Amino acid sequence: MSDLRYTAKRAQHTEIPRPKRGEGQWALGYTEPLNKNEQSKKDDSPLNVRDRILHIYSKRGFASIDPADLRGRFRWMGLYTQRAEGFDGGKTATVPEEELDAPFFMMRVRSDGRLLSADTVRALGEIGRDYARDTADVTDRENIQYHWIRVEDVPAIWERLEAGGLSTLEACGDSPRPFLGSPVAGVAADEIIDGTPALDEIARRFLGDPDFANFPRKFKTALTGHPSHDVSPETNDISFVGTVHPEHGPGFDLWVGGGLSTNPMLAQKMGVWIPLDDVADVWEGVASIFRDYGYRRLRSRARLKFLVADWGIAKFREVLEKEYLGRELVTLASPESPVGHRDHIGVHDQKDGRKYVGVAPVAGRVSGTLLIALADLIEKHGLAGARLTPYQKIVLIGADPERVEDVVADLEAIGLSARPSNWRRNTMACTGIEFCKLAIVDTKNRARDLVSELERRHPDLDTPITVNVNGCPNACARTQIADIGLKGQLVMDGDRQVEGFQVHLGGATGLNANFGRKLRAHKVTSAGLDDYVSSLVEAFLAGREEGESFSTWVHRADESLLRGEPLAGARS
Ligand code: HEM
Ligand code: SF4
Repeated sequence: MSDLRYTAKRAQHTEIPRPKRGEGQWALGYTEPLNKNEQSKKDDSPLNVRDRILHIYSKRGFASIDPADLRGRFRWMGLYTQRAEGFDGGKTATVPEEELDAPFFMMRVRSDGRLLSADTVRALGEIGRDYARDTADVTDRENIQYHWIRVEDVPAIWERLEAGGLSTLEACGDSPRPFLGSPVAGVAADEIIDGTPALDEIARRFLGDPDFANFPRKFKTALTGHPSHDVSPETNDISFVGTVHPEHGPGFDLWVGGGLSTNPMLAQKMGVWIPLDDVADVWEGVASIFRDYGYRRLRSRARLKFLVADWGIAKFREVLEKEYLGRELVTLASPESPVGHRDHIGVHDQKDGRKYVGVAPVAGRVSGTLLIALADLIEKHGLAGARLTPYQKIVLIGADPERVEDVVADLEAIGLSARPSNWRRNTMACTGIEFCKLAIVDTKNRARDLVSELERRHPDLDTPITVNVNGCPNACARTQIADIGLKGQLVMDGDRQVEGFQVHLGGATGLNANFGRKLRAHKVTSAGLDDYVSSLVEAFLAGREEGESFSTWVHRADESLLRGEPLAGARS
């Protein structure tokens, strides 16, 4: 096993206080598995499941799958059983897992910030059409996610993906999860530095490497050289963010320990300058710290953020430099955080004189058929290809400036708008009860209906308001950093239990990064959501000061307004 590999690399030891109770940190000698997941990873490297899928399960069918593979190791190949139909949110976490499992999979395809050519987009579309009942979602981790996948079809799907340079490897599991790369890397006129070679190098060296396939939990990477910080670097385990050193030139700052879920934390900024060529080595160092020192006892405390919070960023840097890199990093104050959009929607300048065009599906939902139409469009207009964004959007790269309006019109015609309403642009939704076994409420369909209702009621909103709809507290669509963050739960409507949401208001990333204002004991029913959001919008429009953002207003607004209580009285 790889669990003692760190000892060879630790040239010097740093004084790490030994916790009173073992947290399952390998580096402190706690190598015995302390829970079911750790045991399963020790029993057999999760990467070995690939061969069993290819040679056994795909031939013998769903019933032949070993339960430890089905609910554990399959994730390392981007496969996760989907929720059986007919179980409402009240059943989540109450019926046994086996009953909630449909004999179909959700499959995640990682894009890792890559440019997808017309052929690759077509392959992605055809897989959706042929094997996934025409489903395909663009997720906020830059993945394409399918549903209804049968294990029998997995080998054929992998073959088609591999032809386009894509894979599902380690798209789930305690592994290097899909990387978020800037969707305009190497292209945008205002880019600080193109990080593409570094992400490619990390993928080449570490994806599928057994030494980096058994972390305490998931490990999320983001990297951008764009000044808008377009990869949500505040909420990833490790982020590289473009910065310029007065003498050395462009490079990256390092942020570590971000993550949302039920115990959200913003990444801490190290304040360093790392040249492009060193990024992969630093990634290796941070990933190794997580593997060796991460808390493996409790899954709920296993993310890197807990270690970073306990150590502090100075100690983390010291361990990284002394034990893993064997050298010091260059200190440089972290770059300023930007304000405003990070989604690249609309038409923008490339450095080569061409244009890129960002488009918005509704809450990330596309389809196999739509992706095939998009591939045709990319070919017709001679575009370089498409990239996925961390905001459930798609960016088309390389439009001829003379033809860009035709591109925009053709995109609109297939349902991808480059000039969406605020609501369509700024609403995201996680997978939700349709397919997710942890969900309590419906999200994608609810978000779609919310968008169309708000477009009707507030068509001309002049300032952005973001709405993130989540089916449970796990915050896969980033509940806590939205202007209006919705966390699915069951709520009482009179004496009936119905789908509803708890509300976080005024959360943000960038300059005013914060997790929003949670209203005590305030819940909205799913049916009442349109009216509630409308009342907030009206109260904001009536009460804002010149140029004031929704988030700033929320932090000073009267609580009764935020609870959606009747406006008339509140306004006076
Ligand atoms: C303990 C369990 C889980 C936690 C704590 C969790 C947490 C998260 C978080 C924080 C993100 C956002 C990543 C980012 O900011 O870049 C995310 C993304 C995502 N997660 Fe989870 N997740 C969990 C389980 C699941 C399950 C069971 C599913 C199954 C459907 C799922 C589906 C997704 C999807 C699809 C995304 C991308 C969001 C989207 O665009 O739809 N997650 N997860
Ligand atoms: S937030 Fe909850 S419901 Fe939504 S995808 Fe994540 S785990 Fe599932």
